[in-house]
Amino acid sequence: MKAWQFKTKDDREILIRHAKISDARDLHQNFCQVVHESEWLPTLRPNSNQAEWAEWIQRTYGNREILLIAHIDAEYVGHLSLQPEEWAASAHVARLGIIVRKPFRGFGIGKALMVAAEDAGRQQRYEKITLSTFDNNAIALSLYESLGYRLVGKRERHFQMPKGFIDEILMEKPIV
Ligand SMILES: CC(C)(COP(=O)(O)OP(=O)(O)OC[C@H]1O[C@@H](n2cnc3c(N)ncnc32)[C@H](O)[C@@H]1OP(=O)(O)O)[C@@H](O)C(=O)NCCC(=O)NCCS
Repeated sequence: MKAWQFKTKDDREILIRHAKISDARDLHQNFCQVVHESEWLPTLRPNSNQAEWAEWIQRTYGNREILLIAHIDAEYVGHLSLQPEEWAASAHVARLGIIVRKPFRGFGIGKALMVAAEDAGRQQRYEKITLSTFDNNAIALSLYESLGYRLVGKRERHFQMPKGFIDEILMEKPIV
């Protein structure tokens, strides 16, 4: 399967590849850590275990879901998912999710994952990527805008987080 190479802002090599079953522990741990930050995801407490992550990775071998892993020096630093919309008539649309490990943010890993995702998405015949984020997630918004994602909507007070209500920002990008 295809892999991608990029450089961090401080010139380290980023390797991006499709997930293997053995990545389940890293994916699960990072997900739990970001949930515990209580800042960026609408999941209030970890709602999955390592075995379920392994099952998800296994499913990607036989369907159009995409799970990409980023490594620096063989160390897991983040991942990205693309999942088809649930409607049959929207099979050309993928929903994107992304998380980078806290110590590795701001080095260009998120951007590298997003660029690789467009390529991987086209290989799976997706024509558009959609995503949503919190309106106070300045880093994510800046990343998505810099890559040409367009604002398509705002759902007010859509999430009730520990710090209060947050608006949801909806964005999309054609990739054909
Ligand atoms: C959002 C996230 C995936 C971005 O990944 P990242 O590796 O930190 O981002 P990058 O280093 O690739 O930065 C990409 C762009 O984001 C912006 N950015 C990065 N750090 C920033 C900061 N501290 N403040 C403002 N903007 C910032 C810049 O526009 C940058 O583009 P540039 O390099 O051309 O200047 C990552 O910060 C993360 O995992 N956050 C927690 C989970 C999350 O928010 N997931 C998304 C939910 S929708």
